[in-house]
Amino acid sequence: MTLHSETAHVIENIHLYGLTHLMWLEVSDLYESASPGQFLMITCDDAERSFSEPSLGRAMSIFGIRTDGGTQEIGILYDVVGRGTRWMSQQEENAEVRILGPLGKGFAPNFNLRNMLLIGGGIGIAPLIWLADRLVDRDLGVTLVHGASDADKIFPISLLPSDVEFVAVTEDGSLGEKGLVTAPFERLLDWSDQSFACGPDPMLQALNDVRKQYLVDKELQVLMEARMACGFGVCYSCAVFPRKGKKGVELICTDGPMFDSSHVFG
Ligand SMILES: Cc1cc2nc3c(=O)[nH]c(=O)nc-3n(C[C@H](O)[C@H](O)[C@H](O)COP(=O)(O)OP(=O)(O)OC[C@H]3O[C@@H](n4cnc5c(N)ncnc54)[C@H](O)[C@@H]3O)c2cc1C
Ligand code: FES
Repeated sequence: MTLHSETAHVIENIHLYGLTHLMWLEVSDLYESASPGQFLMITCDDAERSFSEPSLGRAMSIFGIRTDGGTQEIGILYDVVGRGTRWMSQQEENAEVRILGPLGKGFAPNFNLRNMLLIGGGIGIAPLIWLADRLVDRDLGVTLVHGASDADKIFPISLLPSDVEFVAVTEDGSLGEKGLVTAPFERLLDWSDQSFACGPDPMLQALNDVRKQYLVDKELQVLMEARMACGFGVCYSCAVFPRKGKKGVELICTDGPMFDSSHVFG
């Protein structure tokens, strides 16, 4: 495995909605071959500077890639939840950040199929917008379900790729359907040919339970999350024990983060 670390310049870094911010970085051409579901490690300083802590990397999915006059840019959609992400939100245009990537195995859509169902929970929407873009480009039918606790945490509909059918689900009913993403997943299982999900583990487990309940053999690819210290297979902080894994322990950062849901959850 070749690891690529670089210093990237912040092109823009804006607050988008709720706790969520969007940062665009100018990066090397290496990211041209990256795919949705892959991630990078961004080295963060301590926003509070209350104690001296080593600069650890934070894992972030690649939100999108764009080119501007020959320069390659990648987006990171992130929630400010702690020291590192607070530091990220304070970086202004032209600031330099250290990134390591692209890392991991991303989604593997079967472009010969027709209808694709994407389900994001909270900030789990981050890698799905780019995936939706790629699928729409191939003229595939795309429905994107985004679930969150309330309307403030739902991705702005106006920024979605055109031709994507969007279903918002909130636990408090403040936007879209009231409830959990398992309801539209159940409803759309028949329509979909392949599904992709990213969100908290219990959500991924619940989606797999629905899939099993209907004895559906259609593939559900999930992006797993874990606290990651290295991002490239050395520290074992992201170890999982898939139910159907033959090798026992697997690493989310290098074996994933994309896994077949039945492989992980049975
Ligand atoms: C492969 C991968 C891709 C990711 N992509 C994104 C993304 O695109 N956008 C985004 O906002 N976040 C993403 N995350 C989560 C992100 O890495 C963490 O939110 C971030 O490290 C928090 O750093 P912090 O210093 O701000 O928070 P900390 O101060 O370290 O923690 C603040 C709170 O967040 C919780 N937390 C921290 N890390 C994680 C984690 N990995 N999973 C669940 N809870 C965590 C802590 O338990 C604590 O409650 C991803 C994680 C992985 C493993
Ligand atoms: S994050 Fe270190 S081994 Fe996966």
